[in-house]
Amino acid sequence: MYKLLTKDGMAKRGEFETVHGTIQTPVFMNVGTVGAIKGAVSTDDLRTIGTQVELSNTYHLHVRTGDKLIKEFGGLHKFMGWDKPILTDSGGFQVFSLSGLRKIKEEGVYFQSHIDGHHIFMGPEESMQIQSNLGSTIAMAFDECPSSRADRTYIQNSVDRTTRWLERCKIKMKELNSLPDTVNPHQMLFGINQGGIFADIRVEHAKRIRELDLDGYAIGGLAVGETHEEMYHILDEVVPYLPEEKPTYLMGVGTPANIIEAVDRGVDFFDCVYPSRNGRHGHVYTHHGKLNLFNKKFELDPRPIEEGCQCPACRTYSRAYIRHLLKAKEMLGMRLCVLHNLYFYNHLMEEIRGAIEAHRYKEFKKTTLEGFLTPEE
Ligand code: GUN
Ligand code: ZN
Repeated sequence: MYKLLTKDGMAKRGEFETVHGTIQTPVFMNVGTVGAIKGAVSTDDLRTIGTQVELSNTYHLHVRTGDKLIKEFGGLHKFMGWDKPILTDSGGFQVFSLSGLRKIKEEGVYFQSHIDGHHIFMGPEESMQIQSNLGSTIAMAFDECPSSRADRTYIQNSVDRTTRWLERCKIKMKELNSLPDTVNPHQMLFGINQGGIFADIRVEHAKRIRELDLDGYAIGGLAVGETHEEMYHILDEVVPYLPEEKPTYLMGVGTPANIIEAVDRGVDFFDCVYPSRNGRHGHVYTHHGKLNLFNKKFELDPRPIEEGCQCPACRTYSRAYIRHLLKAKEMLGMRLCVLHNLYFYNHLMEEIRGAIEAHRYKEFKKTTLEGFLTPEE
């Protein structure tokens, strides 16, 4: 159940109740594709850095280790020792981004595993079955995420098929949730809006999927090559057609600035690999923009990555030491950078929630975005 606590302009401050606890929104979900955040981040670390929701991928867990085994173990929560909410992506996007050879049919997608090339079929029912085996809190609908270069006719046909897939997902999920041996009988389903950069197709699609009365609605197929302005324009057009009393999730987005802009357009769930991926490369976020800790100017810098940051890296270590670890290729170096970045994102969401509650979101947005563009002294 989603409860809209307050709004400031289009920005929503909500609470989403699940069987695994209540999520305060806007929220940033921490991406642990295979049930672990890359960069040697443990489940205990997630608790320390303020993670509310962990996100894993259906496709990856299906091809390696396997969802049947995880179900036998008792589900993904038990497997990774995490009792808070988990969202699983459906595999739709990963099939399209990872697999070279694939064939899309009405029934689903035929493709080859990116690990050993074996042939796999995944359709709406298979995706729901896998997510049910994992027992995640929130399952995502099986969708097609078309290329940003696809033409209008392709997009329209793809969106129509994605709608038919969504109807099949809903039926299958209901059936799975009522089986006696299901891992999580309260598993929720989010639908996904598609339509490329064609606002009219997206709006029509939003109207159709909201009739299905799902637990939440995602906006997919963005941040796939279009400009930021095009993405913001689509949000301006589409979000008003999604139910305000349900969570709105912008998939795979993005930079801190993207998130601040999208919140201002009514989005309240996010996920992105940037904080972990950048951290692994020694790129760390601050309120004065990103720093590259490999830079020589940090070799004697005694300051933490960001003054006042309460993350496990900043509480103890200097920029100089972390730079040394990175240069020496010690795993601890990248781990500290990833922990800082995830903490930064989680903490930014806390600041965002505070600003909406105080009804000063516009002012917060202006000063925070200006700060990102103003290098520290
Ligand atoms: N992650 C980022 N974009 C998408 C999308 O369009 N669909 C799915 N399923 N996952 C995504
Ligand atoms: Zn820090």
